[in-house]
Amino acid sequence: MRLRPWRPDDADAVHAACQDAEVQRWTEVPVPYLREHAEQFVGPVATRTWAQGGALFAVEHDGVLVGSMGVHGVRDGVAPVGYWTVAGQRGRGLTGEALRVLTGWALEQPDVHRVELVADPANTASCRVAESAGLRAEGVLRQRYAHRGVPTDVVLYAVLATDPRPPVDAR
Ligand SMILES: CC(C)(COP(=O)(O)OP(=O)(O)OC[C@H]1O[C@@H](n2cnc3c(N)ncnc32)[C@H](O)[C@@H]1OP(=O)(O)O)[C@@H](O)C(=O)NCCC(=O)NCCS
Repeated sequence: MRLRPWRPDDADAVHAACQDAEVQRWTEVPVPYLREHAEQFVGPVATRTWAQGGALFAVEHDGVLVGSMGVHGVRDGVAPVGYWTVAGQRGRGLTGEALRVLTGWALEQPDVHRVELVADPANTASCRVAESAGLRAEGVLRQRYAHRGVPTDVVLYAVLATDPRPPVDAR
């Protein structure tokens, strides 16, 4: 398992991964997802994310791209995370492991004391990933975000630097 910066030659793989209906249903990727969106993501979007105090990583396992793990801007010591996983790589525990790695790394940053995730309560897979990485559900925020223009409930998950966390090498 390796989290590394995105590279321009990842654009094809990102373009293919983001055609997936689940990625388009549960994340904010543009629909339709065009090749230029992928080029932006691995280039200027990644650069801007880092410049704004966030992080955007490609997740690799045995040299194969598994998915994306990101921190989208740190504010007040809170690091909001987001992720998607290539459809053919799901169901192997790799995303939970990658989120444990990302969470551990984020909580080691001097300005971060809390990592949080918002997920649609109907997104069972993402809720399980959050729990497997040690994030706890803190409650449902009703119609808190507009997802593709529709007010949507979310579960707020979080882990504090002082909370117990599953070890990265638990599996
Ligand atoms: C959510 C997503 C990242 C999960 O990836 P994944 O690689 O299948 O997750 P993992 O294999 O690491 O599974 C982690 C845990 O979730 C469970 N899980 C995974 N998919 C599940 C599902 N559909 N239903 C129930 N549990 C599920 C696993 O059993 C595992 O549980 P465990 O730790 O108790 O063994 C993937 O489905 C995805 O990319 N979805 C579209 C994008 C998305 O929803 N992003 C998150 C937005 S908040």
